[in-house]
Amino acid sequence: MSFISERSATVAPFRVMKILGAAHKRDDALVLCVGQPATSAPTPVIRSAHHWLDAHTLGYTPTLGIPELRQKIAEYHNANPDNVVVTTGSSGAFVALFLAVLDPGDTIVMTRPGYPAYRNTLAALGAHIIDLPCGPDTRFQPTVDKLAHIQPTPRAVIVTSPDNPTGTIIDLEELRRIAGWCEEVGCLLISDEIYHGISYGRPCASARDYSHRAVTVGSLSKYFSMTGWRLGWLIVPDDLVEPLENLEANLALCPPAISQYAALEAFTPESRVELDAHVADYARARDVLLQELPSMGLGNFAPPDGGFYLYIDISHLTDDSEQWCDQLLHDTGVAIAPGVDFDPIDGHKYVRVSFCVSLETIRAACDRLRQWLG
Ligand SMILES: Cc1ncc(COP(=O)(O)O)c(C=O)c1O
Repeated sequence: MSFISERSATVAPFRVMKILGAAHKRDDALVLCVGQPATSAPTPVIRSAHHWLDAHTLGYTPTLGIPELRQKIAEYHNANPDNVVVTTGSSGAFVALFLAVLDPGDTIVMTRPGYPAYRNTLAALGAHIIDLPCGPDTRFQPTVDKLAHIQPTPRAVIVTSPDNPTGTIIDLEELRRIAGWCEEVGCLLISDEIYHGISYGRPCASARDYSHRAVTVGSLSKYFSMTGWRLGWLIVPDDLVEPLENLEANLALCPPAISQYAALEAFTPESRVELDAHVADYARARDVLLQELPSMGLGNFAPPDGGFYLYIDISHLTDDSEQWCDQLLHDTGVAIAPGVDFDPIDGHKYVRVSFCVSLETIRAACDRLRQWLG
């Protein structure tokens, strides 16, 4: 007899993790399949973590996060600390937020391609997901014109900018229009801004610059280079604070204490210098890829405006990106992600390359790819 719920049985696996597992079995692997900075947390954060470990008991903290950290996050976003909810990674933020704003069967719109955990978490929670196909014509980002066609009006829409897997940043005027449309029709705008701080020239705005009804999602994982510390946050309108506090008190009790105290140092000028140097490294890695990939026939990608991903159309080479990635890894040790995780319909034509790795790794991967492709 099985006790697996119908909902959880429908949750798809994350294929990136399968590729990563296979890559870790090889000594010569070049891992360009995960969105995780190769660098550690900033030095002041690590120093501070040592101090807090030695000096404090580190029990539960307030559910919404320690007031000092809520204050720092509020300053970072130019928001009111009362509207900040600190969570266990932005992944924890999404679960709590979805539970707070959606009833089973409520509709929520996400872009396709898009970050797979939205889809999988929403499916597990019984939400009705509407895919918004977004291609090169809109730089893989949603537009009001596309949203306005959805009937009846959805309860919520997720915008991700800079995006995963495409790296595109939504046009500021379009974000303003979407924020206005959401207010007008009564749709909650959820803005995933966890890649903010990593961009390559194109301006990037917060949805809350345009609407105080919007929810901003943030994280220490990407720009702050602190994936394993599991800290994220929500900036929410006043009426959502209490329901989220009630939910979080049951889901998590509180975010990790040691991470919260140490993270107070993540926002200091000393840390920011270190973190900005990582962004400069990503920019160099991106430059190498922008130069190398087209010359080996892999030049059909979305403009990588921010974050650290390139989403490449490989339809001229295969119609099975998963098999292609498996073969590439097998033959060369280069691990990249098949598009099927991000797009269940057209992802078989795409692959995603992560470039938050060292320049040597990028160069070596390009050499092996070029040789493999002939
Ligand atoms: C777009 C996007 N949102 C959210 C997350 C979750 O990140 P975390 O839980 O580490 O904050 C990721 C992770 O890669 C992501 O790419």
